[in-house]
Amino acid sequence: MVEVKHLTKVYTTPAGKVTALADVSFSVERGEIFGVMGLSGAGKSTLIRCLNFLERPTSGEVWIEGKNLATLDRRELARARQGIGMIFQHFNLLKLRTVAQNVAFPLEIVGERPEAIRARVRELLDLVGLADKANAYPHQLSGGQKQRVGIARALACRPRLLLSDEATSALDPETTQSILALLKEINRSLGVTIILITHELAVIRAVCDRVAVLEGGRLVEVGPVAEVFSRPRALATRRLIAISGLTPARPELASDVVGVV
Ligand SMILES: Nc1ncnc2c1ncn2[C@@H]1O[C@H](COP(=O)(O)OP(=O)(O)O)[C@@H](O)[C@H]1O
Ligand SMILES: [Mg+2]
Repeated sequence: MVEVKHLTKVYTTPAGKVTALADVSFSVERGEIFGVMGLSGAGKSTLIRCLNFLERPTSGEVWIEGKNLATLDRRELARARQGIGMIFQHFNLLKLRTVAQNVAFPLEIVGERPEAIRARVRELLDLVGLADKANAYPHQLSGGQKQRVGIARALACRPRLLLSDEATSALDPETTQSILALLKEINRSLGVTIILITHELAVIRAVCDRVAVLEGGRLVEVGPVAEVFSRPRALATRRLIAISGLTPARPELASDVVGVV
C-alpha cells in the first residue's frame, strides 16, 4: 500500500536549515493499522504530510499503491490524493458549514451530482453515528463529535488509505477510546489501511498492528506492536515507554492504567 524509501525532508528557514526527516524507509501493507510514535518535534507530522505530497520530500521516494508520487503530473497527483483521506488533531472543519455540508465538501470538489452527494453524506453520517447532527454547526458539537465529522469527511471519496495526525490528542480518554473503536471498525469493515501518528503510546498499543519509532527525524525502530512494547530495542523507544508510564514487562497492567482497549 505504501512504500517510503530514503525519505529526507529539510526545511530552509531564516534561522538556517532544519532536517525534519533523515533517510526514513518503511512500508505499510494493505489493511494494516500502522502507527508512528515519537516525541514532539520528532518529524511525525512532516512524515505524514510527505505521504500525500502536501509537503514535497527533499529527497527519497513515496510510493502509494505502486505509484511513485514524484512521477505524477498535477492531475494524476490529485487523483492519487482522492485515494488518501486525512484527519487532524484540531478537526479542521469549516465553521460556516453544517455537519452535512462539511462531509459533502470533498464530494463537491470532485464534481459529484447533488443527489449522489446527499445519499453518500447520509451513509457516512450513519457510519460515524451522527445521523441526527446533519444540520448542526461545528460549534454545537463536542470534540468527539467533531472528529466523527472529520472522519466522515475523510472517507467521503472512499479512500483506501487514511492518515491520522494526532486525531485523538485533543480528546479526553473516554472519547479517545470511542474514536479508536470507530477507526478500528472502519479498518475492519471497509478494509481501509490506516497510518496513525501520535505521541500517545497507549493509542498505538490499543489499535496498531505495527509501529515505527521516530526520533530526531530518524526511524530508529519498527516492528509488531506487541514486540516493540515488550522488547524495545532502541534507546529512544525505551525512553518513550518509560515516559509514558506503560510497563513493558507487564502489558496487562499497563492497559488498565491507560484505560483504552
Ligand atoms: N514548515 C516548517 N518549516 C520549518 N521547520 C519545520 C516546519 N514544519 C516542521 N518543522 C520542524 O521540523 C521538525 C519536525 O516537526 P514535526 O514534523 O512537526 O514534528 P512532530 O509532528 O513529531 O511534532 C521540528 O524541528 C519542526 O520545528
Ligand atoms: Mg505533529
